[in-house]
Amino acid sequence: MENQPIGIFDSGIGGLTIAYALKNKLPNESFIYFGDTKHLPYGEKSHEAIKNYSLQIALFLKSKKCKAIVIACNSASASAYSFIKDHIKDIPIYNAIDPLVNFISCNYKGKKLGIIGTKATINSNIYEDKINKQSKGLKVFSLETPLLAPMIEEGFINHEISATILKKYLNNKKLQNIDTLILGCTHYPLIKKEIEKFYKGNVKVLDSAEIISDFITLELQKSNLINTNGERKYHFVVSNYTRSFEKSAFYFFKENIKLEEIDIWK
Ligand code: DGL
Repeated sequence: MENQPIGIFDSGIGGLTIAYALKNKLPNESFIYFGDTKHLPYGEKSHEAIKNYSLQIALFLKSKKCKAIVIACNSASASAYSFIKDHIKDIPIYNAIDPLVNFISCNYKGKKLGIIGTKATINSNIYEDKINKQSKGLKVFSLETPLLAPMIEEGFINHEISATILKKYLNNKKLQNIDTLILGCTHYPLIKKEIEKFYKGNVKVLDSAEIISDFITLELQKSNLINTNGERKYHFVVSNYTRSFEKSAFYFFKENIKLEEIDIWK
């Protein structure tokens, strides 16, 4: 069991921020990564559509003998986590939201917490609900920032376009006077530095990829699922091949990768 791969999925390249952080913490693990580029962006899709896409991907990863599945997408975590768990009960399923909620309840000492994410994530209110359950009375202010994921997919990072879009969003009055910002989308660690630059060090920006990968590493250890001696292999799959995804995937995973198109809906 320990030698089997970990399945990771996202709507596109965002989940690679988590795959990369996991690769550094778990050097012997093999991964199968699935980017659902055919249905990107998930943040604009209905709850029902995200649930159905996500379950199909999780079943695909399970059919590839994955020992655990990481939903490396906040939108899919918000809409499909319980649905997937209802259908797949024999391997652990991890989502991208609980690690952050857990981190906040153990470490947050500030007064005003901000969250940015896709429409699907923010409209689900999942962060507020989960945070309020664990840390009563905490003030959470969330803002949907739908242009950020496509902007990152298109490679507009440290660019005048990203600067303009970020300025517009981060100046929104909902986020005024926050002391900490949760990046509630797995694409956003790629623009963390730009967001920090905008705040000039006055707001702590939480690196979701680090927090999520720490959490998953600990959970895998608890379940005795860490591979200690296997030879690692990485397999990257997309539902719709694009050259730009391959270029970005290489850039963000920092390793030579071969991308295979498998349309599991055909
Ligand atoms: N990476 C996904 C997330 O964490 C969102 C990108 C999309 O809208 O597809 O929510």
